[in-house]
Amino acid sequence: MKVAAIVGSIRQESFNGKLVEYMQDRYSDIMDIDILDIRDLPHYDQDEESNAPDYVKEYKRSVREADAVLIATPEYNGSISGVLKNALDWNSRVDYDFAGKPTMLVGASLGGLGTVKAQMHLRQILSAPGMSAKVLPGNEVLIGAVHEKMDEDGNLTDQGTIDFLDNVVAEFERFYQETRAVANRA
Ligand SMILES: Cc1cc2nc3c(=O)[nH]c(=O)nc-3n(C[C@H](O)[C@H](O)[C@H](O)COP(=O)(O)O)c2cc1C
Repeated sequence: MKVAAIVGSIRQESFNGKLVEYMQDRYSDIMDIDILDIRDLPHYDQDEESNAPDYVKEYKRSVREADAVLIATPEYNGSISGVLKNALDWNSRVDYDFAGKPTMLVGASLGGLGTVKAQMHLRQILSAPGMSAKVLPGNEVLIGAVHEKMDEDGNLTDQGTIDFLDNVVAEFERFYQETRAVANRA
């Protein structure tokens, strides 16, 4: 499964970025994860959407051409980060890059609730008409107190979290195959 990954934090030592790199390595037999760089996307501008800069077009194409999308979100003030929302707004117009796209969410935060508020907003955004993503139901990967569950190299160290993530990835693989089978029948 060719997976485009979007990380909602652009800081160098991002736990969410490290989590996606960890998944890239651990699940390489299931998912070929390509991490998209959203740092240099310009602010979404409706005046520009039909003639977007090449960088935006390339980002949008990467999402469209992937079999599935993985989004790792931090929680900023009870929601997703501005950079992530900006990237998704570009996706939501012209070509509707997420339409029907199997999508898996993960999130890591320092707080105990592990991005639950951000992920609730994210699910709402992904169900907007311009997005219409096929988000894996349930299977909420909420990694709270992530600084206590990851080592300096970005490896998860908490066995319960690893086992849960293994299960969710297996579930996502099944979800992806089902979605594909339904699309082939249509
Ligand atoms: C602007 C800002 C707002 C934040 N708001 C929240 C929040 O609402 N809930 C929470 O659990 N953590 C919050 N945090 C702490 C983040 O969980 C923490 O910075 C985390 O490391 C961000 O993810 P990252 O490591 O991928 O950058 C906030 C951090 C920043 C910088």
